[in-house]
Amino acid sequence: MSRCSEIIIFSYFCDRLSYKDKIDIAKLPKHIAIIMDGNGRWARQRGEDRVMGHRNGVTSVRETVEAAAEIGVEYLTLYAFSTENWNRPQEEVMALMQLLVSTISLEVKTLNENDIRLLAIGDLSSLPADCLMELNEAIKATSNNKRMSLVLALSYSSRWEILRAIKSITADIELGKIQTSEITEQNFEKHLCTSGFPEPELMIRTSGEHRISNFLLWQLAYAELYFTEKLWPDFRKEDLYEAIVDYQGRERRFGKTSAQLKPHS
Ligand code: FPP
Repeated sequence: MSRCSEIIIFSYFCDRLSYKDKIDIAKLPKHIAIIMDGNGRWARQRGEDRVMGHRNGVTSVRETVEAAAEIGVEYLTLYAFSTENWNRPQEEVMALMQLLVSTISLEVKTLNENDIRLLAIGDLSSLPADCLMELNEAIKATSNNKRMSLVLALSYSSRWEILRAIKSITADIELGKIQTSEITEQNFEKHLCTSGFPEPELMIRTSGEHRISNFLLWQLAYAELYFTEKLWPDFRKEDLYEAIVDYQGRERRFGKTSAQLKPHS
């Protein structure tokens, strides 16, 4: 067989591979963060109430968690409710909180069966009491799981988180635990909600919006950003895998030049 036919056959089979098959497991992002956007528009397009979009978004949450765990992602952070979301109509906020409570309590068994640990970041004290109780119980019940950490960002905003970190580090200075001159990126990070997590290497936002919306501003400093037109309730496993394949095709330079990354070429 000629070299040319070999190449044609090879590209034919590559085209037929699923995105999952195209992923290089050795180069997986350890941490993926997602802004789940477009629930409201998805429902409106169907002449339905926005809350119906959120309910359908739960299926995408399930699919995405399963997809990430299946291939070995270590951390998956989902922006489920921002500090700014409290300003939505009261009925929508209440419905979202109820949905969170019911989803969390329903999913604990599956999380345990799949060895997935649940964590939460954000101003959790502002959540309704039943929601917080359900959340804390699920966090405790899954705390020994090792395969993947599923982090829910709830009543979260990055500016809130950074200010909280500044207040906490200032308190340590006042107590004499640390000097101002000793503040470094490493010890500042210990005061963030994500202390101990690897930095997200890939951030996905659905629904065609190209914004970060107060999400993990410090942590996303070097993340690759991926935007898809898909509305969140339509997001499925292959969409996550497509984003990972796209991420793996990028050159991550961290401020260096391309030549520095490939010194022998
Ligand atoms: C953004 O869409 C989505 C949210 C504010 C909520 C996300 C919540 C879920 C998917 C439900 C449950 C989640 C978990 C983790 C159990 P939008 O309402 O802003 O949509 P729009 O931009 O089209 O209005």
